[in-house]
Amino acid sequence: METRNLQPLIFARELTRVYALGEGEVIGINRICLEIPAGELVVLKGNSGSGKSTLLSLLAGLDRPSGGQLIVAGYDLNNVSDAELTCFRREVIGMVFQSFNLLPTLSVLENTCMPALLAGKPLLDTRERAMELLGWLGLKDRLNHLPAQLSGGEMQRCAIARALINDPAIILADEPTGNLDSRNGQSVMTLLAELNRNWKRTVIIATHSNLADRIASSTICLKDGMITDHTCDT
Ligand SMILES: Nc1ncnc2c1ncn2[C@@H]1O[C@H](COP(=O)(O)OP(=O)(O)OP(=O)(O)O)[C@@H](O)[C@H]1O
Ligand SMILES: [Mg+2]
Repeated sequence: METRNLQPLIFARELTRVYALGEGEVIGINRICLEIPAGELVVLKGNSGSGKSTLLSLLAGLDRPSGGQLIVAGYDLNNVSDAELTCFRREVIGMVFQSFNLLPTLSVLENTCMPALLAGKPLLDTRERAMELLGWLGLKDRLNHLPAQLSGGEMQRCAIARALINDPAIILADEPTGNLDSRNGQSVMTLLAELNRNWKRTVIIATHSNLADRIASSTICLKDGMITDHTCDT
């Protein structure tokens, strides 16, 4: 029997990230235990400094744990090589940030294609997929615009297209509506919910906003780097 599928997509045990700061240390997250099955839409809540971004960075493979165990989509992130980590970040994870993080000198189409081209995928296929995604996201008339020529909502939708170009199983969003007005914020949350429900992606959203409450399948509350509550909302 295939046992891999029975494992949670995300498994963390006693996961810890401690930052060295001068002579001392700052705790980012503290001995977090977590199991997230595939197909969930998890909302991470907690005050500023509670460890949301630290946890997302570890899940994304952008940062390495100081202690504990972290396995995401079968990758043991404590023990992966740099080459495996690069592959993990490109193929498994799509990331969306508060400040969009688009490359300012590249067009909407180029920004969207970039992760696929870096992964060595063919240009024509990549362009075709990017145009499909950008069409779905309502940006087909903005393909050649630079980020500075877009509204905030358009920039975030371009960032979502970029996050999806390599067809990742997991979408991580760090405060994705933080720089958007409520209408655009709502539309980004609706898109993330659609990716979860219709595209079967596992989505984790760190947010202060209550816009995500309605779409969450579970909510994790962090305080001082620790989980204080993990509720299943469905
Ligand atoms: N690079 C770093 N060096 C030192 N300390 C850090 C670093 N990054 C985060 N921290 C500390 O780790 C703790 C958790 O920070 P984190 O950014 O994860 O919080 P957060 O919940 O995302 O907050 P916010 O809601 O403001 O985004 C905070 O005390 C923060 O000061
Ligand atoms: Mg944060």
